[in-house]
Amino acid sequence: MHAAPSAALILFGATGDLARRMLLPSLFGLDAEGLLPEGFRIIGTARSALDDAGWRALAAEALGQAIDPARLTSCARDRFLARLAYVPLDVTAPGGFDALAAAAGADAERLAIFLSTAPSLFAPTVEGLARAGLAGSGVRLALEKPLGHDLASSRAINDTVATAFTEAQTFRIDHYLGKETVQNLIALRFGNALFEPLWSAAHIEHVQITVAETVGLEGRGDYYDGAGALRDMVQNHMLQLLALVAMEPPAMFEPGAVRDEKVKALRALRPFTAETAAAFSVTGQYAAGAVGGAPVPGYGEELGRPSDTETFVALIAHLDNWRWRGVPFLMRTGKRLPERRTEIAIRFRPAPHSIFAGAALQPNQLIIALQPQENIRLTLMAKQPGLDRGGVKLREVPLDVGLANAFADTRRRIAYERLLLDLIEGRPTLFVRRDEVEAQWSFVDSLRAGWAAAGMTPRRYIAGSWGPSAAIALAERNGASWRE
Ligand code: BG6
Repeated sequence: MHAAPSAALILFGATGDLARRMLLPSLFGLDAEGLLPEGFRIIGTARSALDDAGWRALAAEALGQAIDPARLTSCARDRFLARLAYVPLDVTAPGGFDALAAAAGADAERLAIFLSTAPSLFAPTVEGLARAGLAGSGVRLALEKPLGHDLASSRAINDTVATAFTEAQTFRIDHYLGKETVQNLIALRFGNALFEPLWSAAHIEHVQITVAETVGLEGRGDYYDGAGALRDMVQNHMLQLLALVAMEPPAMFEPGAVRDEKVKALRALRPFTAETAAAFSVTGQYAAGAVGGAPVPGYGEELGRPSDTETFVALIAHLDNWRWRGVPFLMRTGKRLPERRTEIAIRFRPAPHSIFAGAALQPNQLIIALQPQENIRLTLMAKQPGLDRGGVKLREVPLDVGLANAFADTRRRIAYERLLLDLIEGRPTLFVRRDEVEAQWSFVDSLRAGWAAAGMTPRRYIAGSWGPSAAIALAERNGASWRE
């Protein structure tokens, strides 16, 4: 059973980067396919003194940049723009919310509200909404990251939100959960009987999760320098991927069941200490180099000041539970790496004995590639064709599920399309529950405390390389090597 769809969306941060690059194009995508409810309105709000026409012009420009011209027909565009209205609002000024309530009008009880603003504005926003009567039981509130910078600040945000909205009304966004291949991980594990018997320490040697980016700061220095790679990528997206790989089978694909299993996995993460932080993690910061053949400046130069913030992190996580006892989860992420690549690689244990004298058997691997291509690949050993006079020769060959080919007639959507529609329709499975976020922060805080206690600072790596060489040694010390 699902709740009634929202009648309108209020978008805080309506002129911001996320709104332009992702949210407005996603809402357009939903509208163009007839997926928004009849008469659905989108009310934008931000500090800029725009009017409806001004925000529509901004939105039209954003759509022009993000949407394939073949889909951006004038008819579809005009219909979408007609849904938009704008209310200028300084959330810290008293009384400003009345205009928003007036704009919501009769839809005030059936709103979806999306906060795409700095978390420092969450508290006054939530208070303002409650005071203006915009926090009724039919309202859903979506929160965009960062949800705090550590466990304490995250709890403070969650407490503030909870003064006006119940947990069931609170939709915490992790846009990785909106990606098709991430959802496919659940389908792969629980839609096939093949993997489950092998899915444990008995048959899996290690798991590798890589999120490599070629971009640098992208003009987000103020935010990023206060966050760093661990908080920006590991705390949320990568730990969610880990949870989906590691969780026990939920009884149903249903919000409570799925999130109960994820949080159990996250809580099984072994916290770091000063000793284990130094032994099982490496941080780095990029120095000037070249990415894709183009020279790029170092982090400090891009930022405009020296900094000790990490732009790369590699770590070995362990889950202390029966299923994963002794299986290292290798995780690494960084900016200005040689290529954009997001993947999960499951490496199975080697065959116990080779019957083929002299032929090396490579362990099987299951590689789930999320970006840039969506693809699932199983590597297998196969016989090389030939008469085998000198003995059987084997070679590793891939068994590929090219998702782009298998589902060639479906459009690749922006992750936010799925999440916005789920928000509007009140489906919380792909949103992060409070206990999950807090378990993620506990783990991340233990590592940061470990770095501080061990006096660790980021090592330099050349932009366009795979991070500090210590990261390679880290994997090798744990009986693995990074896939490159
Ligand atoms: C965001 C981070 O959450 O995710 C960015 O703040 C990062 O730093 C981005 O670039 C990566 O997302 P995607 O979907 O491009 O992999």
